[in-house]
Amino acid sequence: MKNQSPISRSGRFSGGPGEDLARFTESASFDCRLWRQDIAGSLAHATMLQRRGLLTQREGRAIARGLQAIAKDIEAGRFTWQAALEDVHMNIEAELTRRVPAGAKLHTGRSRNDQIALDLRLWVREEAAALAGEIRELQAALVTLAHENRHVVIPGYTHLQRAQPVWLAHHLLAYVEMLQRDLGRLADGVARANECPLGSGALAGSTLPLDRPLVARLLGFVDRQGRPRVTQNSMDAVADRDFVVECCAAAALLAVHLSRLAEDVILWASAEFGFIRLAEAYTTGSSLMPQKKNPDVAELARGKSGRVIGNLVGLLTMLKGLPLTYNRDLQEDKERLFDTMDTVRATVRILAGMLRHTTINAETCARAASDPSLLATDLADHLVRRGVPFRQAHHLVGAVVAMAEGLGRPLNQLTLAELRGVDPRFDAAALAVFDLQRALAQRTLPGAPGTRELRRQLTKWRRRLTQRPRL
Ligand code: ARG
Repeated sequence: MKNQSPISRSGRFSGGPGEDLARFTESASFDCRLWRQDIAGSLAHATMLQRRGLLTQREGRAIARGLQAIAKDIEAGRFTWQAALEDVHMNIEAELTRRVPAGAKLHTGRSRNDQIALDLRLWVREEAAALAGEIRELQAALVTLAHENRHVVIPGYTHLQRAQPVWLAHHLLAYVEMLQRDLGRLADGVARANECPLGSGALAGSTLPLDRPLVARLLGFVDRQGRPRVTQNSMDAVADRDFVVECCAAAALLAVHLSRLAEDVILWASAEFGFIRLAEAYTTGSSLMPQKKNPDVAELARGKSGRVIGNLVGLLTMLKGLPLTYNRDLQEDKERLFDTMDTVRATVRILAGMLRHTTINAETCARAASDPSLLATDLADHLVRRGVPFRQAHHLVGAVVAMAEGLGRPLNQLTLAELRGVDPRFDAAALAVFDLQRALAQRTLPGAPGTRELRRQLTKWRRRLTQRPRL
């Protein structure tokens, strides 16, 4: 990235501000990322201008060839981006005009305001689709880990206290559900971004006979029936960054989910839990303590959610005071958007890889889940089945737990006589509730961590994940 000084600007500015100022205002150093979208938009625009007689066939062809040659040069790293030309749009157009005189006609009926609105919509659409594919991979990694360890039981937690036994797979599938909602939010955002803003001009359209539907169709802004979709208010179209916010909001919630997953991984990899073992590649040692194996990758996945959330807040704050229509503040949207997508996409990929190289310590899990007090609620349900009101059953089992503690014995080591001493409605079936496999088999409700339900869920997800997400 070259920062050239003095900056050549339009004729109005004679002297030109200093390099510091150029650096302050330029965006080419980061919006050069939009070159593919910018060139795609220009090709469509040129095709339309030609069909409408605003370019001759020769001019249209020369412009298209010129743009394609520039694309090749950028691709090959042969293009010199100039900060003096401010942004991606001016860099490409200036180079085109240098090579092809007709390039000076390309900006007919167009403004950088509708141009950047277009480029960003195209970019969001492509990135969201790529992210969706990566989320699918993460879901697949979770489902595979769940399926391969479908016989492993762990305690489920509330308040980080052992609560009730669950299949480890059920816990992992909870994240698959979250990610599925993330996919839905991305798809919603992309559906709303699916309108072509070109033709809105600087803010008030154009007096020239542009063909907006044609441009929309050429750029794939179409509904399910293939009908073109164009924005309906030129002022809204150049001022609108809702689709950037929606993308970053979906990404922020995704990042929160990833952070929570990372936190579970970090806890489970600790000696205190010991449920999982992370592959060496995903851990680092301590420079001081030779025995350490730190879950740095998961910690960074957790930590990076902070910047993704920050990017969303930054965007909303940047937008909230802007009068209609375009204001240069809007240029500040790009780094927030790019950083968000780079961060979540990398995090999703890295976590998927980490899970694929994680092993489960089935015995440690079994030991943690074998605590019979995790089934105290099942003992209360035993009384409920015998007509005891739940509040009372809860109280009675509380008394049983206290008694067991007093006797220094686990809950399942009490005798029926001792249980009956608390309440005569306990019967022989009471002690059978502590059979863990039986307890899990009994959880037959949809969505519960029951044995059959888990099998159903695993089958469902394994089938679903063979399909690509619809974006
Ligand atoms: N670089 C600008 C941006 O990112 C492009 C639009 C500039 N428009 C203008 N009137 N200065 O928002």
